[in-house]
Amino acid sequence: MAIAIRPLHPHLGGEVEGVDLRAPLTPDEVAAIHAGMDRHAVLVFHDQAISDEQQLDFSRSLGKLEQIDGGHIAKREERRLREGFADVSNLDRDGQPLERNHRYRMFNLGNRLWHSDSSFRAVPAKYSILSGRSVPSAGGDTQFADMRAAYDALDDETRAEVEDLVCEHSQIYSRGQLGFAEFTPDELEILKPVLQRLVRTHPTTGRKSLYLSAHAGKIIGWPVPEARFFLRDLNEHATRPEFVFTQRWRVNDLVIWDNRQTMHRVRPFKDTLEKRDMRRTTIAGDGPTVDQALQRTGS
Ligand code: OGA
Ligand code: MN
Repeated sequence: MAIAIRPLHPHLGGEVEGVDLRAPLTPDEVAAIHAGMDRHAVLVFHDQAISDEQQLDFSRSLGKLEQIDGGHIAKREERRLREGFADVSNLDRDGQPLERNHRYRMFNLGNRLWHSDSSFRAVPAKYSILSGRSVPSAGGDTQFADMRAAYDALDDETRAEVEDLVCEHSQIYSRGQLGFAEFTPDELEILKPVLQRLVRTHPTTGRKSLYLSAHAGKIIGWPVPEARFFLRDLNEHATRPEFVFTQRWRVNDLVIWDNRQTMHRVRPFKDTLEKRDMRRTTIAGDGPTVDQALQRTGS
């Protein structure tokens, strides 16, 4: 059976049928998934009871894996999942929900803010691939906002204003929004800001999108409060309900999103009581969004 994709929303999101992601994909299937991603920016696959090994293999068939080091305050030896995975669950190494005041839990609460994965890295992520191994009885939806549609809906003046702006991104800024501000000197070194353009152009479709993220905390050349307000205003615009698709997880759903064209956030659930085992693999981006010389000098 060939891959078929049914749109789930006027702007973004498609439901994919006719493929088993546990088995090696044919070149046609890989091409259909990339084409689906270019068009829909988010793809949902149901009933994919995938193992970690199979998820890694499937992910590698779509591109190079991102090196996930430095993405979390948990040290390598403290992580629940093997190399190649970002753990976005609420679980500790024994598979139990993190307790309310656990530092990792508080750090993870940053995922409840609208963001684009790895925008805090000089080369930010292309796709994220999230497998829902266990899901809570209520809540814990993932929402996606279409940054192409948000860009298209800007008024002419704002579109001209954002065109060449460059922002500083760091997890210090996203976590700081929630009052999580205590980092060790080692962590601060790893979390040093990087630069990203505020407008990106998709390499295949040529569509422009707003490259927003909770990690964005400054605009180069702007006073900080003015930048924060402007970014907040853009975020408000970009996450209007008409641009948002909500994924209500069923166990063994697998969702892929394009971080270049979307933002996402997880909605609350009873996370100190119920288990939400979500395992993410990440496809590396092609390169930085700003000139590398600019990245080095930071201005
Ligand atoms: C992620 C993320 C949201 C979720 O995997 O990058 O933000 O719903 N996850 O768990
Ligand atoms: Mn994320």
